[in-house]
Amino acid sequence: MSISQKQMEFRRPLATDGVDVSSLIKACPPLDTNSMYCNLLQCTHFSSTSIAAIHNHNIVGFISGYIIPDRPDTLFIWQVAVDESARGHGLASRMIKEILSRPSCSKLSYIETTITKSNIASWNLFESLANKLNTKIKKSTMFDRDRHFSGNHDTELLARIGPISLTQTPKTNRNNEEL
Ligand SMILES: CC(C)(COP(=O)(O)OP(=O)(O)OC[C@H]1O[C@@H](n2cnc3c(N)ncnc32)[C@H](O)[C@@H]1OP(=O)(O)O)[C@@H](O)C(=O)NCCC(=O)NCCS
Repeated sequence: MSISQKQMEFRRPLATDGVDVSSLIKACPPLDTNSMYCNLLQCTHFSSTSIAAIHNHNIVGFISGYIIPDRPDTLFIWQVAVDESARGHGLASRMIKEILSRPSCSKLSYIETTITKSNIASWNLFESLANKLNTKIKKSTMFDRDRHFSGNHDTELLARIGPISLTQTPKTNRNNEEL
């Protein structure tokens, strides 16, 4: 099924989305699955910096994010999930763009996320974002395989994007989609 973004609705997630968000995340390896309660908190307390993309009444895209409590100039993007049927059409990039356009994000200077070394799709997504925002991406280790995960999870590398100015004129990418 090819999904047109014209038929896509973007909105803040709701508590009633928790079950669907859990299913989407389960269907999107290598994302870690969360408890249902965690997904419900993402859909409520963190809804101003999270987003659901809906197509034909189904959630086909979801991003959870939050402003880091001690650093109000930094948005942390927690998880990005796009259903397999909707990938490759710029949906993840569009969802990030929608979040960044909200009043809750108007004062941001940095965006951070963590990515495992082998997740090429995710690196490309965030490198493309840095490029569209005319800024740099700095990489470092945030959670180490042995030190923080006791060898049970690949190292999560921190990708720090910025400084950014969300009032600047955005660059246009090769699909002519503006950020
Ligand atoms: C990663 C993921 C969110 C990308 O979603 P998407 O809607 O297909 O991404 P987009 O179409 O917006 O692509 C954004 C950029 O990444 C690149 N990209 C996306 N998927 C890619 C892949 N599988 N391989 C290489 N590059 C890829 C695109 O070419 C695009 O680059 P461009 O802007 O220079 O053209 C999706 O594949 C997914 O849900 N994967 C499983 C979960 C996951 O790994 N999430 C990310 C970790 S938080």
